[in-house]
Amino acid sequence: MKILVIGSGGREHCLVWKLTQSDRVKEIFCAPGNGGTEGPAKNVNIAAADVKTLADFANEKKIDLTVVGPEVPLVKGIVDEFQRRGLKVFGPRQELALLEGSKVFAKEKMAQFSVPTADFGVFSNYQQAEQYICDKGTPIVLKADGLASGKGVFVANNKNEALEALKIITVDRKFGDSGNKLVVEQCLLGEEASVLVFSDGKNMLPLASSQDHKRIYDGDRGPNTGGMGAYSPAPVVSDVVWQKINLEILQPLTEGLAREGKKYTGVLYLGLMLTDSGPKVLEFNVRFGDPETQAILPRLKNDLAEIMIATIEGNLDRFTLSWDNRACICVVVASGGYPGEYEKGKEIHGLQQAIKVPDTFVFHAGTKRENNKYLTAGGRVLNIVSLGEDIGRAKQQAYQAAQEINFEKMYFRRDIGWRAL
Ligand code: AMP
Ligand code: GLY
Repeated sequence: MKILVIGSGGREHCLVWKLTQSDRVKEIFCAPGNGGTEGPAKNVNIAAADVKTLADFANEKKIDLTVVGPEVPLVKGIVDEFQRRGLKVFGPRQELALLEGSKVFAKEKMAQFSVPTADFGVFSNYQQAEQYICDKGTPIVLKADGLASGKGVFVANNKNEALEALKIITVDRKFGDSGNKLVVEQCLLGEEASVLVFSDGKNMLPLASSQDHKRIYDGDRGPNTGGMGAYSPAPVVSDVVWQKINLEILQPLTEGLAREGKKYTGVLYLGLMLTDSGPKVLEFNVRFGDPETQAILPRLKNDLAEIMIATIEGNLDRFTLSWDNRACICVVVASGGYPGEYEKGKEIHGLQQAIKVPDTFVFHAGTKRENNKYLTAGGRVLNIVSLGEDIGRAKQQAYQAAQEINFEKMYFRRDIGWRAL
């Protein structure tokens, strides 16, 4: 098979790495890719959101399977476009990519299918939402409806913070049309976990659980980021919690979509809050999580290409996923200043030494290769990933490898995995 992976992050390098292990895979392209995907794949200089050019490329190269990493092309309808051209593609169609593309749509579907989630209201102007916030009190959560690169969610601890967030979304219009509507919802308490499931439209096959670390500083302090690290499995997702996720979330979702004649094909990401009254959905993403994927796929024993084809062809019931019993941890190494402003173009040293640590991989995110050197090219630069007998052991190895890496102003959290330890 010839495969095209779309995207340029650590998730995509990890997908490329996992797909190279499949006997069925002969050649991989990555568009646009990063410094780490060039080698195991051929980088193609087409932007991830340039749906038409990507489809032209897939046609011309006779690509057998396209795997879409990020949400933007999915929400733009890349799957519909590829299918119109008879090209095999892994991901949901535009009508269900809206589960991530519109928080209002996602909340309305959850309410309709009785999937547990925070109580909410939907608003399209400042005054209505202000009234609701005053009635409900704080803490309260405000979410811009559309895509906002993970920055459109505000957890407001008091009325001032809530009204400030409301102003940012509706008056300042910081997120443009993504803020035409907003969701205001109850603030849930508990521990967060991520659950990814392969879905072929009839069957949902969950992957191993994981947990992300969204804040920039140790102890989960400071501003939100794209994710500073992850580990799998998340012990907080116990057997009892899994049963509830299956019964209370996955089943009603599968049945609800089936009643509407809609097929969700691809991987669905459930961002969960494990509350005293059971798991509740904070958000859906219609793609693999980043950095969760980097902590999950090294534990997956199955052939990923085979599972992806089965997902597209509706045969997931023939598969069970099997997992390496070891724990996996992913530490994100970032450019100093991220998620605010940061500098690029710093030479990265120590990559060869880092991968000498046993059971350790380095996935690239914001890097590029120039004159046989690797340079930083983004906020999240590298993912140091280690497998170990338990989280503690995996953590020790990942940090040992991280110590080998060096570039000017590099930053990483020192406490990835703390909740599990
Ligand atoms: P989302 O993009 O919707 O997952 O929101 C980003 C982050 O905001 C989540 O990972 C949570 O930490 C937090 N969050 C979102 N919704 C809620 C909620 N209803 N209650 C508490 N925290 C929330
Ligand atoms: N790790 C969170 C996300 O992929 O959206």
